[in-house]
Amino acid sequence: MNIKRTSRGHARSDHAHLNRHYYFARQEYERAVDEVGFQPGWSVLDAGCGIGSYHHAISRSIGVDGSILALDLAEENIRFTNCLATSAARNTIVRSLVGKINQIPIKTGAFDCIWTANVLQYLTAEGFSEAIEEFKRVLRRGGTLAIKEADTSLYQIDPIDPFLISRLQEARRKYSAPEELLGPWSGTSISRRLREKGINPIKRKGQLVERWAPLDQSSLNHIEDMILYFSSLSEQLPISTTDRDKWRDICNHRHKILSDPDLCTREFFVITIAVL
Ligand SMILES: C[S@@+](CC[C@H](N)C(=O)[O-])C[C@H]1O[C@@H](n2cnc3c(N)ncnc32)[C@H](O)[C@@H]1O
Repeated sequence: MNIKRTSRGHARSDHAHLNRHYYFARQEYERAVDEVGFQPGWSVLDAGCGIGSYHHAISRSIGVDGSILALDLAEENIRFTNCLATSAARNTIVRSLVGKINQIPIKTGAFDCIWTANVLQYLTAEGFSEAIEEFKRVLRRGGTLAIKEADTSLYQIDPIDPFLISRLQEARRKYSAPEELLGPWSGTSISRRLREKGINPIKRKGQLVERWAPLDQSSLNHIEDMILYFSSLSEQLPISTTDRDKWRDICNHRHKILSDPDLCTREFFVITIAVL
């Protein structure tokens, strides 16, 4: 399997993956949106919106008087966001823009809230500092910053040996170390990183997404996609030959794993909220 990337080079950000993943974890993701306390009439920046998966849930709270500005670096994702906007966002005004979250082309104090989900993980430490400065600038005084990030250090697909997955994640983390990327394991560190920038979070909450067999076909498709993704990573990262052979075996026999009556998968993410 070739790892798909967006036109801007980001893996796990293409339309098909975002759609599959959102529907897999929708219940917990929408609970995370509820944690933010979106208010009717709010003007919201969805920073790194992808295909706009959260707009339906956000618009339920901000209503017809609210508005969402969907900002993303990948033009093709913005095109999908535009397609979804009218059907998903229940009359909330959704505008979209291609652009960087660390250089937001919008005037100072324009938003009541910034929602950013699984985006900061793609930034370097420097990019993160720039994004936080921009968030401070475009939020009104007393505005809400809500960050959702994955913490893949808790990722499991049982019956796959959890330590085999951990070793792969560790190799991936070491591989991105020279670039100082935050990475998809950074969810728990966001609170500390904000505090280092002079922002005190008011809420931090981890959410487990746990699914057991029997699973519906779309959940099985998502887990199969994860297995294929890990197998591709195992071919590219500096891991032991024993581990690489294990991943090849897992990939070749993935249908046995997917039909295991005790199949269990766990993902974890953290939502961090601050009032600026
Ligand atoms: C994993 S996707 C998450 C999308 C969406 N927030 C969600 O949770 O479904 C990451 C998105 O961030 C965008 N992205 C990455 N770096 C960015 C940056 N510096 N500025 C704007 N968007 C960025 C990618 O193009 C991609 O659409």
